[in-house]
Amino acid sequence: MNSDIEKVLVSEKEINEANERLGKDLTEEYSGKNPLFVCILRGAAMFMMDLIRHVDIPMEYDFMDVSSYGGENTDTTGDVKIVKDLDTSLKGRDVVIVEDIIDTGFTLDRLIKLFETREAKSIKIVSFLDKPARRIKQVHVDYIGVQIPDAFVVGYGMDYNEHYRNLPYVGVLKPEVYNAK
Ligand code: PRP
Ligand code: MN
Ligand code: MG
Repeated sequence: MNSDIEKVLVSEKEINEANERLGKDLTEEYSGKNPLFVCILRGAAMFMMDLIRHVDIPMEYDFMDVSSYGGENTDTTGDVKIVKDLDTSLKGRDVVIVEDIIDTGFTLDRLIKLFETREAKSIKIVSFLDKPARRIKQVHVDYIGVQIPDAFVVGYGMDYNEHYRNLPYVGVLKPEVYNAK
């Protein structure tokens, strides 16, 4: 195990099990709908690539990168900074937003509002992790992999200062690592 990790919170085996279950549920719900899966970079990249192996229907995917400004002006759509936009039109599409983690909920809240203005037919959320203790904006998460306590997690796509995204499990970072600087 990586020496900066205090403990493993979600093992590779648990990750696989969650992806299989979520993939099955999504396969059932979106059969015949040609859904568009939207991966929110960069954290959700590893999760999405594993998840869609278990989605056994015709589908499409695209990528988007946004950065959030924090808590202000949350009732408008203009405050999601789009770093990389989708190449696919959402009009009339059944959209599945794929996230690695829902923390305060601000990112998703804004994305949903933005996608509504783009006239998606339906918008649902799948998130690998849910950290409800940190929620400020109430957003409905349709599919959740694992619910976790309020810990500093990295791995399986999630970073601290851009590192640790490549760990194949979700781990809790040792406090001395983020208290050092
Ligand atoms: C993280 C995470 C989610 C978002 C959740 O992304 O991947 O996208 O924050 O936080 P929220 O619920 O408080 O909005 P981040 O902005 O760190 O970018 P990254 O995915 O590139 O690491
Ligand atoms: Mn992210
Ligand atoms: Mg990040």
